[in-house]
Amino acid sequence: MLEINQLHKEYGRITAVNELSLRVPRGSVFGLLGPNGSGKTTTLGMVLGVIRPTRGSFRWFGELPTPQQRKRVGAILEKPNFYPGFSARKNLELVAMIKEKGRDRIDAVLRQVGLYERQHDPFRTYSLGMKQRLAIGSALLADPEVLILDEPTNGLDPAGIADIRELIRDIAAMGKTIILASHLLDEVQKVCTDFAVLQQGHLIHTGPVAGQEQEVVFELDAPDQEGLLEVLPLVPGYLSHQQEDAYVSLTVASGTLPEQINAFLAERSLFLSHLSVHHRTLEQQFMEILSQHA
Ligand SMILES: Nc1ncnc2c1ncn2[C@@H]1O[C@H](COP(=O)(O)OP(=O)(O)O)[C@@H](O)[C@H]1O
Ligand SMILES: [Mg+2]
Repeated sequence: MLEINQLHKEYGRITAVNELSLRVPRGSVFGLLGPNGSGKTTTLGMVLGVIRPTRGSFRWFGELPTPQQRKRVGAILEKPNFYPGFSARKNLELVAMIKEKGRDRIDAVLRQVGLYERQHDPFRTYSLGMKQRLAIGSALLADPEVLILDEPTNGLDPAGIADIRELIRDIAAMGKTIILASHLLDEVQKVCTDFAVLQQGHLIHTGPVAGQEQEVVFELDAPDQEGLLEVLPLVPGYLSHQQEDAYVSLTVASGTLPEQINAFLAERSLFLSHLSVHHRTLEQQFMEILSQHA
């Protein structure tokens, strides 16, 4: 859907985006994850044609950028700009007029973003979450193939966040590709199928979100800890282990069952006093990825 090749942006002495190469698969919900200042917004600005790259290139739909292609991409980069005194419907009518597209889709869009009931109330009376949903609706008016969202849940309360996440999943289910920049790991984990991690403008990781869970971590302990540590490397699926304060943490290939580990150890007269399963969260992996690049 989007292919970025060695895209680079310098602001004077600051390198905002550093030789970034990336592929966004069609139909994915792609998370661009990284702390503030890591270059997410600059990257989105470049692929949207509003920030001029210092060098490098990108292709939408396999082609170099043209104004026609740009129309196939919907985006919300900045705080939504709507007329406070106008209703949601009136604001969308204006957007449709300016874009010369989407007038016939206003009802459908209002329903999709959950504003149909409130469509005649003035924009200024909306909650932050409703305003954000209207912004997404406005980007959907022209029925784009790709939707780009920059920190879509910033400043929202938990209910507003849940609404936006549900809406994102909804839009993805319609077959659209979504690119979402966020500094929130949790957000990326909950809605994205694929992700990339940016750190100071560098790409430090990219891959599927689900495929990340290739390992399982067990916490275990036995009265005979010494004996336990000795045979651990022989356990089925063994990848690594680490001595923690109160237990041993054992990393094995996913699919390894606790009963396999238990049986294996019991056969060697090692009886466990503690065994629990921990799936590695994206957060733990993220911390590991970051520490490898510190
Ligand atoms: N217009 C600009 N002029 C100078 N520096 C900028 C400008 N825009 C962004 N930067 C710098 O580029 C880096 C990346 O910023 P940004 O892309 O906004 O990161 P993110 O969206 O991940 O928070 C930061 O160090 C930021 O200060
Ligand atoms: Mg940003």
